[in-house]
Amino acid sequence: MKIEANSGRTIVITGAGSGIGRAAALACARRGDKVAVLDISSQAVAQTAAESLVAGAEGALGLVCDVCDEAQVEAAFARSSDAFGPPYGVFANAGIDIGGLIHEMPLENWDRILRTNLTGIFLTCKHGLRHMLGANVRGSVVCSASPAGFVAQAAGSCGAYSATKGGISSLVRCMAIDYAPFGIRVNAVVPGATETGMMWNNVEPAQRDAMRAQLYREIPLGRLGQPEDPARAVLWLLSDQSDYVTGSHLVCDGGILAKSSISV
Ligand SMILES: NC(=O)c1ccc[n+]([C@@H]2O[C@H](COP(=O)([O-])OP(=O)(O)OC[C@H]3O[C@@H](n4cnc5c(N)ncnc54)[C@H](O)[C@@H]3O)[C@@H](O)[C@H]2O)c1
Repeated sequence: MKIEANSGRTIVITGAGSGIGRAAALACARRGDKVAVLDISSQAVAQTAAESLVAGAEGALGLVCDVCDEAQVEAAFARSSDAFGPPYGVFANAGIDIGGLIHEMPLENWDRILRTNLTGIFLTCKHGLRHMLGANVRGSVVCSASPAGFVAQAAGSCGAYSATKGGISSLVRCMAIDYAPFGIRVNAVVPGATETGMMWNNVEPAQRDAMRAQLYREIPLGRLGQPEDPARAVLWLLSDQSDYVTGSHLVCDGGILAKSSISV
């Protein structure tokens, strides 16, 4: 892929310690951005920050931040702006997946997934937007949504996760309208089944090969996504190349959402 010329802009990414967030940080680093990488895992953010510098980032700051905690999110944006100036781009990406049937789900699991996936995106956008607005930055916000926000996953037991992702999709459309007058674009990336920790967290190791083979058969493009697949879409949304795109969902799922789940 042709990498956009050194932009030197500041990009803040949550959930950057692994998976799609880490891949997006490295993609931004390769085009010469300054990256503030946030994650709840201190070891993981330190690693991503170090890798970002090696990849070519003009600057990289690893910040431990739980996106559920407003004080931590506020402090992380303050530290990023102090070091690198206000963000041009924010990738609100941190998320978790807790499966289970609704009638069996403890309230604490429901609360935890809502706080991380939906409140965490709200807090990231809230403080990111404040820094952009305060500095008159005509920037770009991208949120991690999911096919599960559009259709129920055929395997089931995904009510809580899907509810958070549907909420993110609604929030993205509303923010796109609210911040368009300021020149700030807000979009969603919709990764399909992507090979990350989250993909396999709820799957027994012994079942993974069979599940991978089944996914290869069922995904129209015949393979699982790699973290770099949605990361490339995010990179485009976090650039001037997409400057007439707001309120959209960039689906990067190998064709999953385009396909009916019944075969006749
Ligand atoms: N992997 C997929 O198949 C897939 C599909 C669709 C959407 N997504 C979405 O993409 C996003 C990234 O997922 P991924 O697949 O890269 O997963 P991942 O588990 O590899 O990465 C998620 C990162 O978020 C961090 N995190 C978790 N809770 C946090 C918190 N409270 N505060 C800060 N950081 C926290 C984790 O430490 C981890 O580094 C998620 O929002 C997920 O819902 C993933």
